[in-house]
Amino acid sequence: MANLFARKPLDRLMEEAQEVGEHSLKRSLGPMNLVALGIGAIIGAGLFVRTAAAIADRAGPSVVLAFIVAGIGCAFAGLCYAEFASMIPVAGSAYTYSYATMGELVAWIIGWDLILEYAVAAATVAIAWSEYFNRVLEWFGVRIPYQWSHSPFEHDPTGMHGMMNVPAVIILLLLTMLLIRGTKESAFVNGLIVILKVTIVLLVIGLGWQFINPANHTPMVPLPTTYTTPEGITHPFGGIMGILGAAGVVFFAYIGFDAVSTAAQEARNPKRDMPIGILGSLVFCTILYVLFSYVLSGVATVQDFRSAGREASVAFAISKYMHGYEWLSKSVTVAILAGFSSVILVMLLGQSRVFFSMSRDGLVSPVFAEVHPRFRTPWKSNMLFFVFTGLLAAFVPADVTGEMTSIGTLFAFMLVCAGVWIIRVRSPELERGFRVPAVPVVATLGIITCGAMIFGLGWTNWMRLIVWLVIGLVFYFSYGKSHSRINTPPPEMPEGIKLSR
Ligand code: ALA
Repeated sequence: MANLFARKPLDRLMEEAQEVGEHSLKRSLGPMNLVALGIGAIIGAGLFVRTAAAIADRAGPSVVLAFIVAGIGCAFAGLCYAEFASMIPVAGSAYTYSYATMGELVAWIIGWDLILEYAVAAATVAIAWSEYFNRVLEWFGVRIPYQWSHSPFEHDPTGMHGMMNVPAVIILLLLTMLLIRGTKESAFVNGLIVILKVTIVLLVIGLGWQFINPANHTPMVPLPTTYTTPEGITHPFGGIMGILGAAGVVFFAYIGFDAVSTAAQEARNPKRDMPIGILGSLVFCTILYVLFSYVLSGVATVQDFRSAGREASVAFAISKYMHGYEWLSKSVTVAILAGFSSVILVMLLGQSRVFFSMSRDGLVSPVFAEVHPRFRTPWKSNMLFFVFTGLLAAFVPADVTGEMTSIGTLFAFMLVCAGVWIIRVRSPELERGFRVPAVPVVATLGIITCGAMIFGLGWTNWMRLIVWLVIGLVFYFSYGKSHSRINTPPPEMPEGIKLSR
């Protein structure tokens, strides 16, 4: 039984980080794998779908500034993640950092919260994947019937109800099998997808540049007004409020750089490479995002984005204005499909690694820490999260979960920013592969920026987060608290796990 605020000793964390042997995760990832892992998780629905929505509903061409604002907010958190991951290179990411700095209860809360970021996001993106998969099938004149590609809560204009989203479950299963097969293999496939989607993004930027109509960029920041979406929701449009609102919308596009930190225990040289992976992928994607949104908002008008079917807007803008490049519009759809796959892959990877750490600490069942003797991956955890995300993706519609992902992530970012400051004060002597400059300033700005974005998400989402955390507390007090191993000496690990040094 542990004290609610007991902190996990840092020397114990360091020991865990140095484990080797068949019951530990395999250190197989180099710096390029880590950057690619970050890009794999980052570029997805946020860029390809939300950019167009932000132009239409909130900001017009000033979406470019919104990407810069959201990118700066993420940079504060990214710096703090980089310091932690280079100092405590174990699998649990924000959960582990909180355990070392703010105690068990906060660590539990953040571990539970990360399910929103990783597992729920994976299910959400799998549902979007299913939709795009059907679009690709349509090019060949086939389509998976509505009932078998939608949840029972959805129906089409004719009143036909969905039964189960089969393609979403299949992609989750395939990616789970890949993850079980090996982290290196998963990183390889992720690398291929990253090359494909980055190439397509670069092509859109490079080829689209000549089709920019300066009139679409004038004025760069539209005068403040309001806009009511087809769903009947009125938002501020243009001006500062438009930019801030759009920053909240496109924040989703940046989620994922932190997932690199969950792979810290599989990095060959985490002290040097974790900061490269986290900050490298973040900087690279920020540059791509700014250029992509500049081109997209210059090629087509705000009205185009309002009238085109939202999800098809990027492809629509290309086929309407970039004459001679119709193939690019199809390539974008393929890139989106591939992009979604790597987002799901890295999110599932992150989720199982967070629960791996929580399980080693006794806060969740030992099953989540069982490593496959040959593949050296937490295969049972992968399977269990396949069941969880598969059920969500098969039977629940996607619309509620996107914002839950954002609020869950922002909450984790705030705690990581606070944690880095706390540990600088408490343990200044610890060796860090990377140090955040001017910690109190950066950490405070990180907390303020993420707090402001949480504020902007509105009370419905605050309530959802609170309900989710209350459910988590019920689990903690009925299982985690009494099974916590914080007071148990390290060699006595859960069954099946041995320290093999
Ligand atoms: N950043 C990821 C995406 O945009 C979650 O899909």
